[in-house]
Amino acid sequence: MSDFLKLSRDGDVAIVTIDNPPVNALSFHVRAPLMQALGALRDDASVAAIVIACAGRTFVAGADITEFGKPMQQPELRAIVAVLEAIAKPTVAAIHGTALGGGLELALGCHFRVADVGAKLGLPEVKLGLLPGGGGTARLPRLVGALKALRMIGSGTPIGADEAHAVGLVDAVFAGDLATHAVNFAREIARKGGPFTPVRDRNDLLGETELAAFDAEAADLARKARGLEAPVACAQAVRNAVTLPFDQALAAERALFVKLVASNQSRAQRHLFFAEREAAKLPGKDVIKRRIASVGVIGAGTMGGGIAMAFANGGFPVILLETSQEALRRGLATIEKNYAVSVTRGSLSEDAKRQRLAQFKGSTDYADLADCDLIVEAAFEDMAVKKEIFGKLDAVAKPGAILATNTSYLDIDEIAASTSRSRDVLGLHFFSPANVMKLLEIVRAEKTAPDALVTSVDLARRIGKVAVVVGVCHGFVGNRMLAARGAESEALLLEGATPSQVDKAFTDFGWPMGPFQMGDLAGLDIGWRNRKARGLTAAIADTLCEQGRFGQKTGRGFYLYENGSRTPVPDPEVEALIRAKAVEKGVAQRAIGAEEIIERTLYPLVNEGAKILEEKIAARASDIDVVWVNGYGFPVGKGGPMFWAGLEGAARIVERLEHWYRQTGKDVFKPAPLLRRMAETGSWETDATGG
Ligand code: 3HC
Repeated sequence: MSDFLKLSRDGDVAIVTIDNPPVNALSFHVRAPLMQALGALRDDASVAAIVIACAGRTFVAGADITEFGKPMQQPELRAIVAVLEAIAKPTVAAIHGTALGGGLELALGCHFRVADVGAKLGLPEVKLGLLPGGGGTARLPRLVGALKALRMIGSGTPIGADEAHAVGLVDAVFAGDLATHAVNFAREIARKGGPFTPVRDRNDLLGETELAAFDAEAADLARKARGLEAPVACAQAVRNAVTLPFDQALAAERALFVKLVASNQSRAQRHLFFAEREAAKLPGKDVIKRRIASVGVIGAGTMGGGIAMAFANGGFPVILLETSQEALRRGLATIEKNYAVSVTRGSLSEDAKRQRLAQFKGSTDYADLADCDLIVEAAFEDMAVKKEIFGKLDAVAKPGAILATNTSYLDIDEIAASTSRSRDVLGLHFFSPANVMKLLEIVRAEKTAPDALVTSVDLARRIGKVAVVVGVCHGFVGNRMLAARGAESEALLLEGATPSQVDKAFTDFGWPMGPFQMGDLAGLDIGWRNRKARGLTAAIADTLCEQGRFGQKTGRGFYLYENGSRTPVPDPEVEALIRAKAVEKGVAQRAIGAEEIIERTLYPLVNEGAKILEEKIAARASDIDVVWVNGYGFPVGKGGPMFWAGLEGAARIVERLEHWYRQTGKDVFKPAPLLRRMAETGSWETDATGG
């Protein structure tokens, strides 16, 4: 019938097969023939039942996200679902892979849903800054109840086929040949005869909704949304399903969808969806990946242990190497404790914990790493230490093994030069806690072989990380920009802002926490040690450290933490110290607004990002956004610093930076040529041809 839609028959059952690789998105070229096919099958008296299925790896994974923000071509999904729902003969969605977003909404337009045992079903629109716009908020509560619908739609997290069956979303789960099972199911239903009630008319569960409990959960969702509009809209729409007649709820859902799809937040989140996928693409598609079956990790401290867990969670056997049995025992005990916490929280079964722990083998002998395909060094951040380790690895590792360092700052070219195989050396910069944080900066050294790089990107995906390939410089992309962000923090304090004012400006912007709270959490002594090593000073932070105020771990830092509490309490002593330092340095204090706090810290961050692009340390502006959202908590609704710069206006950023540069002469304020170009062209491309 079309390249994207096939019609077939099995006796009196008609099968509509959508075939729009890779994920069967409901693009215009699918919607048009689908609408036509449904109309024809509805009117065909020889058809007793209709099955909607998909070719390839998955059922429809949603609307076509690339079409958002453009004029919508008719027919829309809503119209298709309306036609589908009005068909008098039984309709069955046969779901394999993932039925997501518009895909699940299409399935909700059917009388019945059957699923492969491995299928997943969900409405993840909220992750794109949207709510389901094809009737999902009005129909899902009618099958699973309002509270379950709120949890599914508000989180965007899909559920498995068995759970979907248990909660009433699917009518049967099958293992094996789904198409045959679906056809048999449809035939049997048709034989039994109707009436077949469309989902829109199934109102029984709605009456059971306790609105007070619903509202309490919706309020919790809104609080956790930290300024994101979509979760709030999702909750409102599900509530409408309970309190309004179906057609009114549908109309209200539509109005909310239209508003959200045009919002900057949704634009930002859609940008991030594609940015994450783009970041994983490297030039040289034909490069053959190396085989990685086993992993070695050197160092069983916080980073090494977390990295080892990340690989074990991804199914890799891990050899954990330490310098002494005692250090090894401590490291393995921490890993066991971390898994035990997951069991207590209910996110891991006792059985899964046992399996994960069985992946680990401890050693104090480098010779045990001889069979590893990848070895990640996570030892002390010191060039001499790292060079010594890489020298040893050079002697024992098998040919072709990838040798990675987890350094945060050090020159990987220099580390690579300490081996006879610099083609195999690269950086794998994990973020703490490494088993949890999504970001992995993969650092391409000067001589890193393309296949080592491609293998690492693939490996990152296999262990559930979001990978970004970056070049060698001090701090790579993330930490280098973090330093630029932090450069003005102290100056703001001296000029009159308090730590809590700065942190509040950050959390109001959407960050999970501000820089001073973050410093207290990480430990102020870390930065202090770093500064001393590099001959740098920070008047306030250094003094706090000299007083033994290292942050949460000592109960005092920029804030007070009383009786082991993690809640920061402003400390008048710190505020007095700041005032005294201002007097000492002759800085006049004044009131500083939230807007200035954000601009003074984030404009230099963007500026540093532009320099990083100019130097080709990052390949694309969107890669930088992926780093900041996944590694540093940049608010998703703002799309990452480089996307946000576009919203903010690069011309304004240049103008403010120039102003501060004239005032202070500080390098962080000197606008990068690429930022100036962005102000003129609106693009971060590093040359006129878009290369
Ligand atoms: N629209 C357009 N392109 C899509 C897409 C979609 N809904 N979903 C995936 N793609 C593209 C990806 O961009 C990628 O393209 P590329 O190869 O050119 O980079 C390709 O399909 C493969 O995607 P993944 O790399 O993500 O493949 P995986 O196998 O890892 O994951 C998936 C598959 C779980 C389906 C994942 O792609 C996914 O989560 N997709 C988005 C699902 C979603 O958000 N659906 C809701 C859309 S909004 C909606 O439906 C609105 C409605 O309510 C009106």
